[in-house]
Amino acid sequence: MEEIKKITIQSGVGKFGDNEDKIDNIELKMGQVVSIVGPTGSGKTNLINDIALFANRNTPSNRRVLINDALPPSEYIEDPSKNPVSYITQHTNFLSDLPVYKFLSIHAKIRNGHSNNDAVVEETLDFANKLTGEPINKDGSMTALSGGQTRSLLISDAVVIGNSPIILLDEIENAGIHRTRALELLRNYKKIFIFVTHDPRITLLSDFRVIMKNGAIQNLITTNENEKKAVLTIKNIDDLMLELRMLIRDGQYINPQFIRSKIVHCLSTIDGSGSGSDKNQDFSDVPDFHNIHNVQNVQNVQNAQNAQNIQNIHKELN
Ligand SMILES: Nc1ncnc2c1ncn2[C@@H]1O[C@H](COP(=O)(O)OP(=O)(O)OP(=O)(O)O)[C@@H](O)[C@H]1O
Ligand SMILES: [Mg+2]
Repeated sequence: MEEIKKITIQSGVGKFGDNEDKIDNIELKMGQVVSIVGPTGSGKTNLINDIALFANRNTPSNRRVLINDALPPSEYIEDPSKNPVSYITQHTNFLSDLPVYKFLSIHAKIRNGHSNNDAVVEETLDFANKLTGEPINKDGSMTALSGGQTRSLLISDAVVIGNSPIILLDEIENAGIHRTRALELLRNYKKIFIFVTHDPRITLLSDFRVIMKNGAIQNLITTNENEKKAVLTIKNIDDLMLELRMLIRDGQYINPQFIRSKIVHCLSTIDGSGSGSDKNQDFSDVPDFHNIHNVQNVQNVQNAQNAQNIQNIHKELN
């Protein structure tokens, strides 16, 4: 089968018929990561459906999708084993109560045709475990996996066993997946990744983003260097929210000084004012930081326990 070098999306129309896509041809090249963004109902899922279906002016949007500048071979559509696209939808789930290892072995056997697939199954599990915080029990049943584990295993299965050159992911953000790490790891595999997302972190780790409105493509924005620098700050803000959520869930009190010190740290990661590392930071120019420091020095036992929890969370995140 011909190697896939690029996909082209030729323009169509939005939801109301008269609002046309504003970009005539969008080219997605092998190795690129692309995000599709826009408000709820703006046509993001519809756009990746067009890609998954290799639309040929035969869907409501009237778009056409080309592979390497030509209409895709009919076998892509007729023979599921030749379809180069893996699509992890908003609602995809495993419908199987087989043990995880067994399920992956069977999939690997179908896909690769030989029975000794232990290495590829191990790689799949390994990769899934890097995406999610909760280790997957390979002898447990597929149906016993949590939402985050299921999503991680679906992505890993598509990337490693499925070895699909085009991977479509519809909203993985609420799935308990390490997003920054996932994007870094996925980039090691040479594929076209298309994310439908509401998440600024995933968006800014992409090469470019397609902006949707009323079902139509509005614009194409290439991630610029300044935006790439903002990813660390966004990660720190995200992590703060996660820490607060975990502390509250754990029955702890929230100390506003803790929030303040974290925000000061976030500020330090904005261009030019710090490296983002907790260690060796010079906060002397930040008003009030020494006060925060003193408050932290007289933490009571509960706060010490908070700090321990936070350290644990950090370990889990990094
Ligand atoms: N170009 C289009 N032509 C016709 N109908 C469209 C088009 N784009 C979207 N729609 C329809 O509009 C509705 C909302 O679109 P869609 O589900 O793709 O939105 P979304 O951006 O994925 O929303 P959410 O963020 O809630 O998942 C769907 O019923 C879809 O079929
Ligand atoms: Mg959607």
